[in-house]
Amino acid sequence: MSDLYREHILDHYQHPRNYGTLDHPDRSFEDSNPLCGDRIRIDLKLSGDYIADIRFSGRGCAISQAAASILTEMVKGKSLEEVKALGAQDLLEELGVPISPARRKCALLSLKVLKAAAYGLNEWPS
Ligand code: FES
Repeated sequence: MSDLYREHILDHYQHPRNYGTLDHPDRSFEDSNPLCGDRIRIDLKLSGDYIADIRFSGRGCAISQAAASILTEMVKGKSLEEVKALGAQDLLEELGVPISPARRKCALLSLKVLKAAAYGLNEWPS
């Protein structure tokens, strides 16, 4: 990992953007990585079908928390349909660092949570 990319991740980890919770969010979802227990919660405030505001909170490794921070910046102002169409590669490219297979779940935890929120889930169907 080059120093530049490492700094990008560390900056988001140490100074997370859109961190916290929203009062009365229109959508909210929380999930954990079952392998390590690290958690992410995402709250959305909607304006029609658009994400007017977004916050994330959670705890976990630098990759999971930095990815959540980066993801919130990617989708603020986007429509729910655009969020539903996001692929893993879109977020992985935005991270800018090569992610090993073992760390993919870390990097993609926030995307999984965001998609659940976009689809209006309260919990995963069993
Ligand atoms: Fe838990 Fe990365 S080690 S999400």
